[in-house]
Amino acid sequence: MTQQLHQTMGQQYGRRSWAEPWKIKMVEPIRMIGGAQRAAALEEAGYNTFLLPSEDVYIDLLTDSGTSAMSDRQWAGLMLGDESYAGSRNFYHLEEAVRTYYGYTYLIPTHQGRGAEHLISQALIRPGHVIPGNMYFTTTRAHQEMAGGAFVDVIIDAAHDPADPHPFKGNVDLDKLTALIERVGADRIPYVSLAGTVNMAGGQPVSMANVKALRELCDRYGIAVYLDATRMAENAFFIQEREEGYADTPIAAILREFCSYTDGAWMSAKKDNLVNIGGWLAVNDEDVAEQARNMVVVYEGLHTYGGMAGRDMEAVAIGIGESVEDDYMRARIGQVRYLGDLLADWDIPVVRPIGGHAVFLDARRIYEHLPQDRFPAQTLAAQLYLDSGIRSMERGIVSAGRDPETGDHRYPKLELVRLTIPRRVYTQAHMDVVAEAVKAVYDQRAEARGLEMIYEPRQLRFFQARFRPFSG
Ligand code: F0G
Repeated sequence: MTQQLHQTMGQQYGRRSWAEPWKIKMVEPIRMIGGAQRAAALEEAGYNTFLLPSEDVYIDLLTDSGTSAMSDRQWAGLMLGDESYAGSRNFYHLEEAVRTYYGYTYLIPTHQGRGAEHLISQALIRPGHVIPGNMYFTTTRAHQEMAGGAFVDVIIDAAHDPADPHPFKGNVDLDKLTALIERVGADRIPYVSLAGTVNMAGGQPVSMANVKALRELCDRYGIAVYLDATRMAENAFFIQEREEGYADTPIAAILREFCSYTDGAWMSAKKDNLVNIGGWLAVNDEDVAEQARNMVVVYEGLHTYGGMAGRDMEAVAIGIGESVEDDYMRARIGQVRYLGDLLADWDIPVVRPIGGHAVFLDARRIYEHLPQDRFPAQTLAAQLYLDSGIRSMERGIVSAGRDPETGDHRYPKLELVRLTIPRRVYTQAHMDVVAEAVKAVYDQRAEARGLEMIYEPRQLRFFQARFRPFSG
């Protein structure tokens, strides 16, 4: 009946909008500093948006990590923090939430995602191992390499093409994976590193059919599948929207089913789980849990807090439940898509389809005249900040780092700038302002000269590298 009424109204007015299933209770002022100040701040920051003080930033789209607005329930949950060193009640709430929504048996909390990546990598990877995955993520691959492994990308080719409209660009290419297993041998592959959604590909999802087939393939060879669940709830939304048979399945049930095809997961709770800090590792194998628990006490904290305060674990436990609500997720992804569609309508090259957590600008196409070692995406991020104080993130050659064997730059096909949308933080008007700023920078694209790197850290260089305008 209600649905019928909606359909009739929809036909009458021609469109039906989504809106956030919340209203704003507290605000935090932001301001745009002047153009000359922005230029000085950017120079001081070595043209790296990671090095800008946040007070010099107007709209901060650096990351969706730890930048969510918590709900009133989560803030109330903070007051229920049990800060006992051992056996905090908030740990048991978190364990229950992970079991309920993700379905894994053993939970090891960590201070954030890379803490969990460290534990799983050290527990399962030995020198000479090969870890296939659906495109690398910076910290994930760094931990795999530090444990002695080598990452091999087995994502489908479509993922490396920003314009390819494939609905599940995060899928694993099972032929590539089979060929790799046949080449190196299953005993050298401790697990497949599967991420949903795929951050570096543009927030692109993995289909349920793909994870099912992956599970079957890995079972044939006795290889485990571990999931980077950082944005897996967002992945579940895309399955509901695009995959046959799931239109009427709640996101919570889709998430649970997807996880059931994997052996465990690591999590940056700072994303999907709607908190400012936190992470966890969750596994079904008792031996792996045991190893991780042995290590967590060395690197993170006791196995019932893993680097988080009791109150933080409570906020994660509540955030997990909120993150799988269908109306929340529709508005979340709806906002990202709103920005992406505005830009696409102006013919600004963006990664298509628009992904879950961010809109990715295709810097390679925007600055067609700049070679990749002039850092087109780094340049574009700098220009966007200069124009309007908007902070974005390079996801191209700087992020890709150097090949540990040859020492050369890795030259990724994707040279992108990520406009990452924090959860429940900005309004549609902010998205309009961002789109207009991108358009202004795009219109001046012919003038960009690129950058040169003047300081390069050894690990994860994108965080702290410094640049200056290209002078050649
Ligand atoms: N996995 C994925 C897919 C991520 O995006 C991140 C973090 C991590 C693991 C590591 O988690 O930061 O809590 O230690 N991504 C952030 C970003 C940094 O901006 O995309 P963490």
